[in-house]
Amino acid sequence: MDLLYRPRRLRTSDTLRKMVRETRVSKESLIYPLFAVDGEGIVEEISSMEGQYRYSVDRLSLIMDRLVAAGVKKVLLFGIPEHKDACGSQAYEEDGIVQRTIRYIKENYPSVYIITDVCMCEYTSHGHCGILCGETVDNDKTLAYLNRIAVSHARAGADMVAPSDMMDGRIGSMREALDEAGFSEVPIMAYSAKYASAFYGPFREAAGSAPAFGDRKSYQMDYHNRKEALKEAELDAAEGADIIMVKPALSYLDIIREVADRHDIPVAAYSVSGEYAMIKAASKAGFIDEEKIICESAISIYRAGANILITYFAIELAGFIDEGKIG
Ligand code: PBG
Repeated sequence: MDLLYRPRRLRTSDTLRKMVRETRVSKESLIYPLFAVDGEGIVEEISSMEGQYRYSVDRLSLIMDRLVAAGVKKVLLFGIPEHKDACGSQAYEEDGIVQRTIRYIKENYPSVYIITDVCMCEYTSHGHCGILCGETVDNDKTLAYLNRIAVSHARAGADMVAPSDMMDGRIGSMREALDEAGFSEVPIMAYSAKYASAFYGPFREAAGSAPAFGDRKSYQMDYHNRKEALKEAELDAAEGADIIMVKPALSYLDIIREVADRHDIPVAAYSVSGEYAMIKAASKAGFIDEEKIICESAISIYRAGANILITYFAIELAGFIDEGKIG
C-alpha cells in the first residue's frame, strides 16, 4: 500500500514508544497524603483504604522511612485530634497534632517538604469546614480561623499551606495573614475547584470528619458545573494562590484540562480516597490488574494537564517510575 502516514511506525519498539511519549512524570511531582492522629503507639489501618494508616507521632517513622526510601519527599498533612469543639480550636493549638507532627518531621526528616491541609472539618464537633451560624457555615467569620490555622502551621515549620475549606476570599485573606506574620515565602496551594463529592467517603472515615448534619454543598462545588470551576480558579489565582488544585481527579479530567489551559501557574490534582478505594477493591476482587490501573489512571491525570499529583499511590508510583513502567 502506498501510505504516506503510518502512525504505527512510531510504535514499533519500546525504545521508540518511550522516546516519543508526550507525557513525562517524575517523583518530584508526587505528594503523599499523610494522616497523623493524637495519642501514642497508634498504627491503625483505615478500613475503607486498605494499605493506608493513621499514625501517632511516635509511630510516624514507619511511613516516613518508606516514603524517603521510595524518593517521595512531599507530604500533605492531615491531623486527627482527640478533642473537637465548635470552633475547631485544636487546629491552631501550638501543640496540636499537626503542629507536633510538623516539628517531628522537620527534626527527623529534614529533606521532606511539608504541605498542610488547612481546614476545620477534622477539628469541629459538628464536622463542618467552618464556624457555624445556626445551621450554615459563616464565611467571613471562618476566614479569621483559617488564617490563624495557616499561620500556626507556618510557625511550626510547614513549607506550604493548602486551604481546602472552599470559603470565599480565603486565599487573599490568608496571604495577607501569612505575610503579616512574617511568612511571605510560604506558598499557598489552593483547593480551587473542590467539588462536593462522594469520592471523599473513605477519607471522612479516615479523618472522622463527616458532617454531623447536612452536607457540604453550600461551600463545595456542584459537580454539574464547569464554568464555576474556572471562576473559582480565576479568583484564587487573582487572590495570590501559588498553585491551584482540582479535586477529585479522575472524574474531573475535563476540569483539570481547562484550568491548566487557562492558567500560567502550576496545577495540582488530588486523586482522592474514593478513587484509591475503588482501585483497591476491584483489584482485590481480581477484576483488574492493580499495577496497570494505577499507572494508567495516574498518567491520565498528568495528560489532562496536572503538573502535580496528590495520591495515596505515591509510593507505588515512585516504584513504577524506577522500574521504567511509567515516566
Ligand atoms: C477537608 C478535606 C477532605 C479531603 C481533603 N481535605 C474531605 C472533605 O472535604 O470532606 C478529601 C480527601 C480524600 O477524599 O482523599 N476538607
